[in-house]
Amino acid sequence: MNSVINGVDYGPLALLLGRWVGNKGLDTAPDSDANPDKTGFTDEINFTVSGPAENAEEQQLVTIRYHHVVRKLENGLIFHDQIGHWIYEHDSNIIMHSLSIPRAVCLLAGGKYQEKEGESLFNVEAKQGSDTFGIIQSPFMLEKAKTTAFRMALSVKDDTLSYNEITSLEIYGKTFEHSDSSVLHRVTYDQD
Ligand code: HEM
Repeated sequence: MNSVINGVDYGPLALLLGRWVGNKGLDTAPDSDANPDKTGFTDEINFTVSGPAENAEEQQLVTIRYHHVVRKLENGLIFHDQIGHWIYEHDSNIIMHSLSIPRAVCLLAGGKYQEKEGESLFNVEAKQGSDTFGIIQSPFMLEKAKTTAFRMALSVKDDTLSYNEITSLEIYGKTFEHSDSSVLHRVTYDQD
């Protein structure tokens, strides 16, 4: 796959471009009773190029943006919607993932791009309280459903993408590991 598009070298981010769909998602979400809610889902992610970014005339980044839509397997209704960017710095091999969800939670997670046994690995994490790879949330969420950490392992091999993410929460007077995973297949490879 050519990583240079319109003169910009997107490096490993080029591997993510296109439209991906999956029907193997599993969400484990908190509930006020003792048992977590487990829900199967279908999901779709669209990644498109969003150009280079230069910071302080010094840092050279390349960026792609995405929209992730998740629907309940049982009825096709949307139950999660997420937007953000993946960002890569060639010089340091650092990857960053910014995301925003409609519950009024945003975060910036970071890590290093890796390759292992033919797979491209995009592993990032964020922690509440960090000034760099941290989490921002509304007053209500901070008080009642606080996100304290986020980690995501995303891997791509050819036209298969899988992710596992764990969002650590403090909710209903306890800590809870809210987890989501899915496997998606690329259906179109659009460069922009
Ligand atoms: C595929 C990804 C995700 C899915 C399908 C999903 C789905 C869900 C569901 C079904 C709930 C329970 C809602 C309820 O009880 O009414 C929930 C709760 C929550 N999720 Fe997610 N989520 C995802 C990713 C995330 C991410 C990335 C974050 C933040 C970084 C996040 C933060 C939260 C929080 C803070 C709650 C607690 C709110 C509550 O239960 O009242 N989720 N999520």
